Amino acid sequence: MARRIVVLISGTGSGMTAIADACSGDRLDAVVAGVLADRSCAGLELAAGRGLRTRIVDPADYPSRSEWNRALAGEVGALEPDLVLLAGFMRVLGPVFVDAFPRRLINIHPSLLPAFPGAHAVKEALEAGVKVTGTTVHLVDHEVDHGPILLQEPVRTQPGDTETTLHARIKEVEHVVLVEACRMMLSGDLDAGGAGAAGSRLHQDA
Ligand code: GRF
Repeated sequence: MARRIVVLISGTGSGMTAIADACSGDRLDAVVAGVLADRSCAGLELAAGRGLRTRIVDPADYPSRSEWNRALAGEVGALEPDLVLLAGFMRVLGPVFVDAFPRRLINIHPSLLPAFPGAHAVKEALEAGVKVTGTTVHLVDHEVDHGPILLQEPVRTQPGDTETTLHARIKEVEHVVLVEACRMMLSGDLDAGGAGAAGSRLHQDA
């Protein structure tokens, strides 16, 4: 049976599109079982346009953050995911959600973590004057933008870069890295691609 990926987004959904494209072609032996967002966004429209199942779970519709986390975990769990991917999901998830998907929840972040965690990673990298930044895919733990690192790829900054130009080049790399990270997670091939530490921690946890 095809492995099932659920993608959580908040924005343009270019990472979600890269995964859906890889699933439609032969680069990823999986299906996108659903795309969920915390708000209406362009990525959700793209997903719906491709015939994917979509759903908004807006924190404003719940009395508390933990109720929202519970509802979101319920919606995602109902899709029976083998892998849950945070691809530009701009809300912090609490333990109720994170603990519902042990060793199945990954995030992509536009910096070489642990440098520049948080919502302004690309801007902060530029402001810091770094010559190299990049992208990280990691397993999600209870801290923001933190957890065993699966894959990282560097991206060089260029003279005259703006947040927009640099983020666009990072996203190009992210779209390749994301597919590889999903492939690794779904195949259990966690020692590939430099994910040795994450892999061994995962195996110990299993
Ligand atoms: C990506 O750069 C990802 O690393 C970050 O948010 C961005 C999402 O972009 N977490 P998109 O919505 O997939 O285009």
